[in-house]
Amino acid sequence: MNRRIVMRTVLVLAVVLVLMQFVPVDRTNPPLGGEVPAPAEVRAILKRACYDCHSNETVWPWYGRVAPFDWLMERDVREGRREVNFSTLADAPLKRRQRKWMEIPEQVEKREMPPWFYTAVHPEARLSDADRAALVRWAQENGRRDGPPAPPPAR
Ligand code: HEC
Repeated sequence: MNRRIVMRTVLVLAVVLVLMQFVPVDRTNPPLGGEVPAPAEVRAILKRACYDCHSNETVWPWYGRVAPFDWLMERDVREGRREVNFSTLADAPLKRRQRKWMEIPEQVEKREMPPWFYTAVHPEARLSDADRAALVRWAQENGRRDGPPAPPPAR
């Protein structure tokens, strides 16, 4: 290939990469609310395996400040918080909490959460069988306290 074309392509890519860094990314942590009640053992598991995406205490690693990784992370945090936010779950309406007590054991048992790409770079977030059992037990206990979700309305 023509050397000059290669050099130009590299230069253009470099400029694009630099420009990408100027796209604003929201890394703010919203205020804390009614944090979900949890015994210390469960809180520790949630903090190391879930809080980066499901709380208002997200910790951004250095590569979380570099585009395009920060774009992906911003999206995960935004969508993660929308699904479950452990920093505010205690304030959520009963119906929503009841749904979450069902969803959490499901996600944990199926090993969908924490996502594989997260544990690949955060080995401390990997869950042992005991961790998974503790999370499931905790969510189910909360589910019993809050009661089962209401049946769908009769038509
Ligand atoms: C890398 C970020 C990340 C981490 C870490 C993470 N999650 Fe998630 N989670 C998401 C995203 C994004 C969604 C929404 C999209 C989806 O369902 O994949 C989600 C969805 C969920 C849902 C709702 C799924 C549903 O539709 O039923 C539950 C429950 C959940 N996560 C629990 C957890 C728990 C518990 C942990 C820790 C053991 C955890 N997550 C760790 C990003 C994360």
